[in-house]
Amino acid sequence: MSNVQAVEQEKMNTTDKISMDDLVALCKRRGFIFPASEIYGGINGFWDFGPLGILLKNNLRDRWWNDMVITPPIGPNGEPLKIVGLDSSIIQNPKVWEASGHVGGFSDPMVDCRETKKRYRADHLIVYLPNELEQENQDQSILVFVEGTPKQEIEKKIKKLKLSLSLSQCECIPLTDLDKYGYTEDYGLWLLRPNGTKKVDRSRLVAPDVKKPDTLTEARQFNLMFESSAGAVKDAASKVYLRPETAQGCFTNYKNIVDNMRVRVPFGIAQIGKAFRNEVTPRNFIYRSREFEQMEMEWFCHPDEARLWFDFWKDERKKWWEAVGVSTENLQLRQHDQDELSHYAKAGVGTVDIEYRFPFTWPGFGELEGVAHRCDFDLIQHEKHSGKKMEYFDDSVQPPRRFLPHVIEPAAGLTRGVLALLAEAYTADPSRPSKMYLKFNPSIAPVKAAVLPLVNKNGLPEIAQKLYYSMRTKFMTEYDAKSNIGKRYARHDEIGTPFCITVDNDTPKDQAVTIRFRDTMAQERVALDKVEGFVQKALKE
Ligand code: GAP
Repeated sequence: MSNVQAVEQEKMNTTDKISMDDLVALCKRRGFIFPASEIYGGINGFWDFGPLGILLKNNLRDRWWNDMVITPPIGPNGEPLKIVGLDSSIIQNPKVWEASGHVGGFSDPMVDCRETKKRYRADHLIVYLPNELEQENQDQSILVFVEGTPKQEIEKKIKKLKLSLSLSQCECIPLTDLDKYGYTEDYGLWLLRPNGTKKVDRSRLVAPDVKKPDTLTEARQFNLMFESSAGAVKDAASKVYLRPETAQGCFTNYKNIVDNMRVRVPFGIAQIGKAFRNEVTPRNFIYRSREFEQMEMEWFCHPDEARLWFDFWKDERKKWWEAVGVSTENLQLRQHDQDELSHYAKAGVGTVDIEYRFPFTWPGFGELEGVAHRCDFDLIQHEKHSGKKMEYFDDSVQPPRRFLPHVIEPAAGLTRGVLALLAEAYTADPSRPSKMYLKFNPSIAPVKAAVLPLVNKNGLPEIAQKLYYSMRTKFMTEYDAKSNIGKRYARHDEIGTPFCITVDNDTPKDQAVTIRFRDTMAQERVALDKVEGFVQKALKE
């Protein structure tokens, strides 16, 4: 085993794969996340955050806001950075989205299945191309599956269709690669492969969920923006879009902020809010949904310093995810390849994704946040489309200068961040009644402490309530007196409460309580009047 392989193996051992089914079931059972409009059968790509989920999401959101806007990081020169907050409207003048490139370019290639009426993202469909493709045999089927389809399911279909096909003798390529690298001749697509040129006739492709070939349409571009209309009359002039990213509000308010807020470049504008994308294939629980929240910050700087800030922000943001409890071995930075760059990132040094090892990407990684070098793309576009000058006048240097700032953008998913925190926290432990617990960083945990009277008599509820009434004003505390103590511990393990404080029969005598620690299940006796300070100190660590 090479050193690199050994390190990879070590990483896998420390981060066991968890089951998405278990995680989704827990989220529902314990009130974190429910399917939206579930009583009507749900709606694909939309989710509701339940009582525990909203506490967790708000904790992550507030931490980001605090670390960006209230106390931004110290910059490379040792001085605190300046970042101001914003809450712009979800619906904007449609010209914003023309200028930003979303009307023209924000689309995914998608194919439809004429038989099942299902719609797929072409780059998520995988073609199982036999190494030995029988060029002359037009009846030979070529199977197509959605990326990530389990091997057993593929083998089941091969058996059902009575195909003489072995998976180990297939090359798996995204459907888009057929279109990208193939060239058309005689109604077929000719692919240049290492073992020779292959003619792949589209009519041989068998779509997922069907038995017959030739039901997939050609790929078409599909705009991801949701449309609506503003005003009493619904016509072309009233068409508006739900914003697909929060970022544009920061660009359209850039001038207002420079003119009125006494900020000097470099500075940032931060915004948290909902974004909407009509994703062709929403999937993996809340990872790719059609309504989600983003936490984005646009950092305006001098073009000569953009590279420095790009490096600063990518490191800073990775450190931030670690600080909120995501382990280093489950995070990686990945530079985008040239052909996956967004329209705005092409001119700069590109985009780096901060990726997390999600259960469904395991042992690989999936995007959690992108840090993009957007150059002056957006300011130039808004200058062109609005006719308003976006130049910055810098009189702090001699001679004074005018320039269009470049922008570095750390764009994180709040909704996706919640999923990463849940997956990270999910820890199997067969020795406990709950068989698992959520190992949240205490500062992020939805409920920080639970006050539990051992029994509902002997004066214990009175002592417990007094403690609870005091603690609830300082941090999220639950008072829980129902069922036996074992069941109460189990529930708090499942929702990730770091501290359970039990008022027992000794408490009236020794004026002390027992604190049970979630991760170790160890118990410690602490004086009643010290317990609040004890928890408060632990929350700050
Ligand atoms: N302003 C740049 C921008 O929007 P993006 O990579 O498209 O960049 C930023 O989105 C982040 O938003 C992603 O890293 C991801 O965390 C989150 N995100 C994007 N699409 C999402 C979706 N359909 N569902 C949930 N989160 C999504």
